[in-house]
Amino acid sequence: MKPKEETLVQTASNLSKKVYIETYGCQMNFSDSEIVASVLTTNGYQLTNQSDDADLVLINTCSIRDNAERKVLNRLNDFKRRKKKEPSFKVGVLGCMAERMKADLLDEKKMVDIVVGPDAYRDLPDLLEEIDRGRKAVNVLLSREETYDDIEPVRLDQSGVTAFISIMRGCDNMCAFCVVPFTRGRERSRDPQTIVSEASELVTKGYREVTLLGQNVDSYHWSEGGLDVNFAQLLELVAQVSPLLRIRFSTSHPKDMTDDVLVVMSKYQNICEYIHLPVQSGNSAVLERMNRGYSREWYLERIASIKSIMPNCAISTDIITGFCGETQKEHQDTIELMDLIEYDFAYMFKYSERPRTLAERRMEDDVPDEEKNRRLQEIIRLQNHHSQKKHSKYLGRTLEVLVEGTSKRSEEENFGRTTYNTVVVFPKGESRPGDYVQVMITDFTSATLKGKIV
Ligand code: 5AD
Ligand code: SF4
Repeated sequence: MKPKEETLVQTASNLSKKVYIETYGCQMNFSDSEIVASVLTTNGYQLTNQSDDADLVLINTCSIRDNAERKVLNRLNDFKRRKKKEPSFKVGVLGCMAERMKADLLDEKKMVDIVVGPDAYRDLPDLLEEIDRGRKAVNVLLSREETYDDIEPVRLDQSGVTAFISIMRGCDNMCAFCVVPFTRGRERSRDPQTIVSEASELVTKGYREVTLLGQNVDSYHWSEGGLDVNFAQLLELVAQVSPLLRIRFSTSHPKDMTDDVLVVMSKYQNICEYIHLPVQSGNSAVLERMNRGYSREWYLERIASIKSIMPNCAISTDIITGFCGETQKEHQDTIELMDLIEYDFAYMFKYSERPRTLAERRMEDDVPDEEKNRRLQEIIRLQNHHSQKKHSKYLGRTLEVLVEGTSKRSEEENFGRTTYNTVVVFPKGESRPGDYVQVMITDFTSATLKGKIV
C-alpha cells in the first residue's frame, strides 16, 4: 500500500508544476527528451513550450564539440539570473554534458540544481523530490542494460508525421576524436519486439515516417529469448509494419555496414533510398589515427556496393577538417574523395579536441585554428557545388513527397521530403501533413527543391 500512497502524494504535489525541456545536439538527444517528457508527465508534471512559464527547465545537452558546450553554458547563465530573483525556479542539466561535467555543474558553476546522465532518466522523479527538499541532486551512473524499451515516448515534435525510434544506446567504437563512448557508455541494443510495436503504434496514430536511431546502427544485435536479430533483419521487420510507413535510419558505420542491409533497403519500397555514411576523412593514414577501423579503399568499396545495389540511393556524410597531424596532402585526399563520390549532403566540422578521448591523451591538436577554418570553408564550398549539381538533376522530374507541414517561409506553402531526404517546398493545394503527394520539381537551391503538385 505505502508506495502507491507515496506516488499519489507526489502526483498531487507536482500537478501544478510545469517543465520546459530544451534540447541540443543529435537526433538521439531529441529522442531522449521524449523519454524524459514521458517519465515526467506520468509523474504529474505538465509540459510547457515556454521557458518563462516553467517552474523547472531541463536542458538536454551535447558535448560533441567545444562550441556545443559553450552554447549550453551561455544558456545556463541566462537562467542563473532568473534563479537569483526566483529561488523556487529550478534548472537541470541532462545528457552528455551532465555525464562529462558531473558535480562540477552543481558545485563550481552553481548554476544548476539537478544533473542527470543519459542512463538515469527513470530516476528523475526521485531526484526532483530531493531538490524539493532543498538538496542538490545528481545521478550520472551509466548502465550496461538501460534502453528505456518499456517507456512510450511523449512525441515533442508537433507534426504528427515523423518520429524517432531509438534502437540502441551507447557506442563501443572509440573513434579517437569522439567523446560519445565516455558520455553515453557501452553499446546495447533494444528488444526488437518493443521497436516493432512502437512503430505499429505510431502508424495507428497517423505517423508516416520513423527514423531508427543508434550511434552505430549496423552493430545492432539482439540475442535473447530465442530471438537472434541483426540490423538488416530489424530493418525488414520494421518495413513490414505498414507500406504507408517510411523508414529511415541513422547512423551507419562504414566498417560495419553490410550488403544485407542494402539488399533489404532495395527490397522494400518504403525504406528510404538514403544512407548517411560518415567518412570523416578521405585519407587512410588520418582514418587510422582517428581509429575509424577502415581505409579510404574500404570506404570507396562500400560506396560502390551502395551504388550497385541501389543505383539511385542518396548518400550523405560527416567530415572533420584539421584532425591531429592532418597535412595539406591528406586534406587534399578528402577533397578528391568528395569529388569522386559527389555526396548529396554533408555535415562538416573542424576538429575540436575533447577531454578523455584518445586524441586528447595521445596526439597533438597541431593544425592551427585558422587553417582548420580554411580547410572547412573549402570543403563547404565544394559540397554546396555538389548539392546544387545533384538538385539540378531533379529539375523537371516528378518525385513522391511526404508532406510534413507548413513551410517556414510562407503560409501558402507546404514542405516535405523525398525518399532521398531532400526538402521540397510547394504550394499547398489540397495537401495536408501526412499525405504522400507527387511533386514536379521546377526550381532548386543547394538546400531545397521547389515544385508543384501534379
Ligand atoms: N570534433 C569535430 N567533430 C566531431 N565529431 C565528433 N567528434 C568531433 C570532434 N571532436 C563529428 C563527427 C561525427 C559527428 C556526429 O560529429 O563527424 O560523425
Ligand atoms: Fe563517436 Fe565513432 Fe561512436 Fe560515432 S562511431 S559515436 S564517431 S565513437
